Amino acid sequence: MSTPAWAVRTEALTKVFRLGVRGRRMTAVHRVDLAIEPGEIVGFLGANGAGKTTIFKMLTGLVAPTSGEVWIMGRALGTRASASPIGFLPESGCYHEFLSAEEFLRFTGTLCGMSGSRCAARIDELLELVGLTEVRQIRLRAFSKGMLQRIGIAQALINDPPLVILDEPMSGLDPIGRKQMRELILGLKAAGKTVLFSSHIVPDVELLCDRVTMLVQGSVVATGRVHDLLHPRAHESFELVIEGLHEDGLFHVQPLVSRLVHRGHHVMATVQGDSQVERVLDVIRSAKARLVSLMPQQRSLEELFVPVGHESVEVPR
Ligand SMILES: Nc1ncnc2c1ncn2[C@@H]1O[C@H](COP(=O)(O)OP(=O)(O)OP(=O)(O)O)[C@@H](O)[C@H]1O
Ligand SMILES: [Mg+2]
Repeated sequence: MSTPAWAVRTEALTKVFRLGVRGRRMTAVHRVDLAIEPGEIVGFLGANGAGKTTIFKMLTGLVAPTSGEVWIMGRALGTRASASPIGFLPESGCYHEFLSAEEFLRFTGTLCGMSGSRCAARIDELLELVGLTEVRQIRLRAFSKGMLQRIGIAQALINDPPLVILDEPMSGLDPIGRKQMRELILGLKAAGKTVLFSSHIVPDVELLCDRVTMLVQGSVVATGRVHDLLHPRAHESFELVIEGLHEDGLFHVQPLVSRLVHRGHHVMATVQGDSQVERVLDVIRSAKARLVSLMPQQRSLEELFVPVGHESVEVPR
């Protein structure tokens, strides 16, 4: 079978929920267009309620779109062939707690139509991959949150699907578990899989993703390669640490900077643009103060993600 141009493609994907007895309409996802290439890792960022889970549920066929189109691996959603290529880790998986880890994976494999011997070999492989080999006979009832998350990953990968959708895969994992999850996602990419995942942990998204889609109240507000999203303003802003800048110098620096924070004997100044930096340096020289450091400010995804007005305020010390 030839590789489709898009692993996931949506056009104006929309979900409107009706709430309460009066049927108030709530748009959870608004006209989202996705075009995800095979083999990409795409991170979905967005605050609580932004619509990430609803999009994933529409892609997996668990929630019916109100309007719009979805194609998975080149086939329209709803056709039999479109369902099988997706492995899905739900956000809050409710698993059969009376089954052992091994029994649960066998059950999932059977649902995917896997033969007994293929399933047995895959279960061994996956339990090893997610670090649950030792507890394979233990019932899920006795599993911790992080262990349930790991078994959830294993079930998503049972039939080696080309497209893996992970709704908050890092949730509930300790730092070691998070590192293992990052390695696992990169391993999936190395194996040629397409991975979509949501997270609130911006550095994880920045580290793992080829592309990022940012959602605010159901709409995509930014999408693109991590590098392209970060690049446009890179090096436009600089942070200068200055020592020995007294009252007169401060008076002249103040109008040239966008932010000024006092830290003991130092002043930290944020300056926009090369020419302003030159002016601040002139003031430092004539005030006989000392430049301790000058750092270009790299824009982070966090800055893009946290809307203006929600920034933490720095209190001068
Ligand atoms: N079954 C439902 N019925 C009514 N409203 C729903 C339903 N599912 C989700 N919503 C609403 O849709 C919006 C988007 O929810 P969704 O779960 O997709 O957000 P999310 O980005 O995954 O958030 P989180 O980061 O908290 O997981 C929210 O306002 C939510 O209340
Ligand atoms: Mg969610």
